[in-house]
Amino acid sequence: MCGIVGYVGSNEAIDFLIGGLHRLEYRGYDSAGVATITAARQLVLARSVGRIENLEARLVETPTTGTIGIGHTRWATHGSPTLANAHPHLGGRGTVAVVHNGVIENFQSLRTKLESEGYKFSSATDTEVIAHLIDSCLAKQPATPRRSAATGYEALVDAVQAALVQLQGTYGLAILFRDHPEVMLAARRGSPLIVGVGDGEHFIASDTSPLAGRTGKIVFLADHELAVVTADSLRVVHRDQGHIVHSIQELDLDAGDVELEGYAHYMLKEIFEQPESVANAMRGRLDLDAATAKLGGLNLTPRQLHHVERILMTACGTSWHAALVAKYQIETLARMPVDVDYASELRYRNPPLDRNTLLFAITQSGETADTLASLREIKRKGHPTLSICNVVGSTIANEADGGVYLHAGPEIGVASTKAFTSQCIVTSLLALYFGRLHHLSFEGGMRIIEQLQDLPDRVREALDSNDAVRKIAQKYADCNNFLYLGRQYNFPTALEGALKLKEISYIHAEGYPAAEMKHGPIALVDKNTPSVFIVPHGFVYDKVMANMQEIKARGGPIIAITGPGDTEAAALADDVIEVPEVEDFVQPIVSIVPLQLLAYHIAVARGCDVDKPRNLAKSVTVE
Ligand code: AGP
Ligand code: GLU
Repeated sequence: MCGIVGYVGSNEAIDFLIGGLHRLEYRGYDSAGVATITAARQLVLARSVGRIENLEARLVETPTTGTIGIGHTRWATHGSPTLANAHPHLGGRGTVAVVHNGVIENFQSLRTKLESEGYKFSSATDTEVIAHLIDSCLAKQPATPRRSAATGYEALVDAVQAALVQLQGTYGLAILFRDHPEVMLAARRGSPLIVGVGDGEHFIASDTSPLAGRTGKIVFLADHELAVVTADSLRVVHRDQGHIVHSIQELDLDAGDVELEGYAHYMLKEIFEQPESVANAMRGRLDLDAATAKLGGLNLTPRQLHHVERILMTACGTSWHAALVAKYQIETLARMPVDVDYASELRYRNPPLDRNTLLFAITQSGETADTLASLREIKRKGHPTLSICNVVGSTIANEADGGVYLHAGPEIGVASTKAFTSQCIVTSLLALYFGRLHHLSFEGGMRIIEQLQDLPDRVREALDSNDAVRKIAQKYADCNNFLYLGRQYNFPTALEGALKLKEISYIHAEGYPAAEMKHGPIALVDKNTPSVFIVPHGFVYDKVMANMQEIKARGGPIIAITGPGDTEAAALADDVIEVPEVEDFVQPIVSIVPLQLLAYHIAVARGCDVDKPRNLAKSVTVE
């Protein structure tokens, strides 16, 4: 779940390791550690509980030198967050060092077996099992191991593969061998891992953020692959296919993308990046000549797409809310039926699907375990699968038949913000594309394009509400319950606004279709339970106003997100936040902005750790 870094080259490894671990902090962690091999061929370890600053303090006492090393931020799954459980873990007589992301499900039986072989355990983790198992496999190798000119490290590869086949569960692994101080091994199954290719140096990381400013040349490892990495060479071996040649992808990794650049929190920075990220999501994708969208990566011909009769969208959390926006957009603009399913439900639901059903998996990280499992299940049934994804080269992006990237840049705040608005842009493009494939006229297509082109400016204007929102946040920061209410396109906006508040301020919030509120949640309304209404002008404006009256009549405070100068709504509401009005199908992209800010400022007012909310992980790679 958390962070891995590795370095081999001619510079001091520790510099990259510590910088890289800082870049991975956003994922949340409870302890950290590094291991390097010194010039005197000693494997040295430094670990600490809590923040990386504690690890840095430890490094001042015991400098960790060497031009090869691995590092880890741990999010405990097996064993509490103690020093003994922090990674790296050593195998055997201290000859092997391992850092691990993920969970080894059969660790107990392996541990019992290794203990019977005489291995002594010093932690409660599942990871230590891997370290001892590799040592045990190395020890069991024949005296003259197979040596191949291809890799030069077959003994190590054979031993690690022999260990990996015994593991059930998920892993991203980086491994050092004291007696081979020039080589590092990296392996993955179900937990992302990449190799950065530098000039006379290589980097390993669990995502691209540590590599920004170091190299943009990336090799994305796939499941069951093992990388053999030295300063000058990189070889990848697949469990079943043997040696394979990977193409190196060139990414534009801007160090500024992963720095705070003066903002107090990544979440705030990412909220303010939205005018740009929204523009990036549609850049080069609007075809003004044909009044449609150009989506290069779908890997399906217009004829194949024309035969699609039903769309199934699957996702989790915020991405699921974007899927719900997509349902309204595509059903209205393209007149095609869209089903939206939680990935955690879809994977076991086995729904009857029409032959011409197309699946979209929506995911910021591209690594969410349930979304990946749903994609695999629907793909296995023979349906075409596409992803809408932010992280380039992620597992879901790779496994889908095709897809559309968000190009939102790294999203570091655990609470998703810019990914949501970019997802809604991409789904608008899909609605435009499918609409134009079917009945939508040229003129209708152009109207949509004009709306989309206007959006970056409208989002920028929505950000002007920041100061007003901060004041309102201070007024309501002590409330313990909130309702978020909107209709049609702004029903998903209400869900997303409520999720943002829950995630980072730990206030209970419910998102509801505004009228559905009458069927139960209205019982919650009292003077301490604010209702946030999303009520810009649009075809359900009068209906939402009527729902607002119902709350008002019961003494509930109202915060209204309205169009500019809406005196009617202002007369009913206790507090008003004005946003630009756009056409209904893109209104969520504008209306969500003050709700993101509201959650942010309330969380700050309550002293919460905005970027690392309790119990949450940025990408949920476990079921
Ligand atoms: C969003 O704020 C949440 N942290 C969470 O709901 C997230 O959207 C969900 O886990 C899905 O992640 P994904 O988009 O990376 O698949
Ligand atoms: N399961 C391992 C542990 O508890 C790794 C956890 C992680 O991914 O950080 O130590």
